[in-house]
Amino acid sequence: MTVSPPAPALPADAGEDVVDLYLKHIGSGRAVMGRVMGGMAEVRSEGPWIHADDGRRFLNFGGYGVFLMGHRHPAVVEAVHRQIDTHPLASRVFLEPVAARAARALAAHTPPGLDYVHFVNSGAEATEAALKLARAHGRTSVVTTRKGFHGKTLGALSVTANDTYRTPFLPLLPDVTQVAYDDPNDLEQALAARRETACVVVEPVQGEGGVRIPRPGYLTRVAELCRTYGALLIVDEIQTGMGRLGTWWGVDADGVRPDIMLVGKGLSGGVVPIAAMVATAEAYGPFSRDPYLHTSTFGASPIACAAALATVETMEREHTVARAGALGARLLAGVRQVCAPYQDGLVREVRGRGLLIGIEFAEEQAVGELLLEMIARGVLVNHSLNSTRVLRLTPPAEVDDAELDFFLTTFADALGSTAARMAG
Ligand SMILES: Cc1ncc(COP(=O)(O)O)c(C=O)c1O
Repeated sequence: MTVSPPAPALPADAGEDVVDLYLKHIGSGRAVMGRVMGGMAEVRSEGPWIHADDGRRFLNFGGYGVFLMGHRHPAVVEAVHRQIDTHPLASRVFLEPVAARAARALAAHTPPGLDYVHFVNSGAEATEAALKLARAHGRTSVVTTRKGFHGKTLGALSVTANDTYRTPFLPLLPDVTQVAYDDPNDLEQALAARRETACVVVEPVQGEGGVRIPRPGYLTRVAELCRTYGALLIVDEIQTGMGRLGTWWGVDADGVRPDIMLVGKGLSGGVVPIAAMVATAEAYGPFSRDPYLHTSTFGASPIACAAALATVETMEREHTVARAGALGARLLAGVRQVCAPYQDGLVREVRGRGLLIGIEFAEEQAVGELLLEMIARGVLVNHSLNSTRVLRLTPPAEVDDAELDFFLTTFADALGSTAARMAG
């Protein structure tokens, strides 16, 4: 695996307690979480590794789906350096060539017809843009799925199915209906009552919902229903897209072409935050005609677009998508083998597609315990925001054999300790 030479470790800032700074200036909740996770601060990274200020390093199989390219992929870092040295942020008076090239590169891989790209800075902003674009077409009703996650800004939160995050901010957008995921009949009922006025927001695999994989043909049926009832189809590929599932997009499994697709996380190359809303010419019309209808100062910045462009080009050159599929199959088999002795007891199910893998436990407590056991042994993994019994793995595609072995050995060891602790 190629990684750029590691940057020198930052000098330990003598006497500077990061937890204390968090307590005083960022928030007690995050400070406490940091302490629970061991109190370390992360100071550098390369490939699948993160280094902490106490000298330890951690294999990152988490990262909430961002790091398919690993950390600091040399080609992305080089492109970003070049952009910083030439023109990192734009006047927004003239056109920005790197934004145009990044849009072309991304559109070369989106399903046919999804040619128009609106770059933003985060996944939630991509969701916001899509909801506004749908409204510009008169689609003021929104149908979303239970356990779906689409971000936490007000509009995005309106279509995110998690009461913990929603309740403090009610009322949210009106006329949002949640239907069961992977249930076309439920969707049909909702759409039949909202002819020509609805949009549907759906993930190809629910990531934060606990890696819930729908039955084959679900998205095809969703697309048919949208056509029948005149609804706009918005597919959220923020977590599933950019190769995460071993295909460029989750919709590829069903060959579906949405009206609008949301992209994020991996588009950053793990280097500069960027996300995008991609749309067909017809859907994009209102944004295309009026460039000031939906804007933000930092959207489509040259520095972020340089990262996105280099990411897409590097993925093409290094066959990252195919590697994600191959590594995902090996990882899923390995995880299933490790979990086999606990199946129908502590572990309920192991499921995954490509490099998005979920391990569902019988009890929520197991997720927290295992996460800490893994950290103690040098591996990072994630919980799932909308499914608290599911531990999630979203490793880079560039993990080598030794790293995969290290993960599986560590996982087996940590799972054994967790099972023993929970039994006792
Ligand atoms: C499917 C999906 N949509 C939207 C988002 C929101 O993205 P962001 O956290 O960048 O706002 C996420 C984040 O986890 C996601 O998984």
